[in-house]
Amino acid sequence: MLLHVSENKEVAKGIWEMHLSGDFPFENVQPGQFIHILIGSGREHVLRRPISIAAIEAEKETLVIVFRVVGEGTDWLAKRVEGDVLDVLGPLGTGFPLTTKQKILIVGGGIGVPPLYELIKRLWQQGNEIYCLLGFRNSDDVFWVEKFKEYGTVTTYTDDGSFGEKGLVTQRIAEDFLEKNWSNVYACGPVPMLKELKGIVANFSVEGYFSLEERMACGVGACYGCVCNNQRVCVEGPVFPMREVVL
Ligand SMILES: Cc1cc2nc3c(=O)[nH]c(=O)nc-3n(C[C@H](O)[C@H](O)[C@H](O)COP(=O)(O)OP(=O)(O)OC[C@H]3O[C@@H](n4cnc5c(N)ncnc54)[C@H](O)[C@@H]3O)c2cc1C
Ligand code: FES
Repeated sequence: MLLHVSENKEVAKGIWEMHLSGDFPFENVQPGQFIHILIGSGREHVLRRPISIAAIEAEKETLVIVFRVVGEGTDWLAKRVEGDVLDVLGPLGTGFPLTTKQKILIVGGGIGVPPLYELIKRLWQQGNEIYCLLGFRNSDDVFWVEKFKEYGTVTTYTDDGSFGEKGLVTQRIAEDFLEKNWSNVYACGPVPMLKELKGIVANFSVEGYFSLEERMACGVGACYGCVCNNQRVCVEGPVFPMREVVL
């Protein structure tokens, strides 16, 4: 389907927030799902690029993505301007299952943060009590913290302490668990972060879901290019039950 770029702006160093409008099944989106975007005419870059749906603004018929420029595809996306048209597939994949009236821990690292925004919003709408930890490399990389604060208690970490607390996003979870007694954990971020988190919460009775951002080709389950733990990240994932994920 074709979506129009209604806004595209740099929100942190090399990190862009793009708003896309048009005929899209906004009402059916689960938080954690992604769109698969054709780059250019599709001739130079045969493979589409997967980017998570960060927010849905159904009343404006708009979805928002946030991406970091790491190569030619994302560089091309960063250069799109209002009125440009993108060819996208979606919403794809299996998102985060929701719950109601629970004590929730959300953990996000770097460019794993965007899909957690639509999640925190929906969990808040369902009456959950939410505590959120967001980690970034340094103050240049920080985005959307104020937006997350609308829906829960947010603590931000940077590696060098240039914004928020200094250190790793996981560093206080074990001791805080004893006090906060979270029942559900949701996370998206770099593999070392997910690995550390999984090790910590294994000691507690908690239901958890992780989103994995594996490299992808077709994005629709046909090529098996994204298999991880014997499952296709693009169809059975990118969100998996934490206990099934081998990192
Ligand atoms: C389900 C899913 C959701 C994603 N959501 C987001 C998102 O919301 N925002 C965002 O910025 N990125 C997201 N990504 C990653 C994004 O798809 C890649 O960064 C993008 O495809 C890179 O394209 P490129 O042409 O710019 O870079 P390429 O030239 O393809 O690659 C440049 C560099 O980035 C590395 N790279 C490429 N893809 C990945 C990946 N999936 N994971 C780790 N490293 C990678 C390559 O190894 C290489 O070093 C997501 C990936 C998946 C699978
Ligand atoms: S990318 Fe082709 S099966 Fe997942």
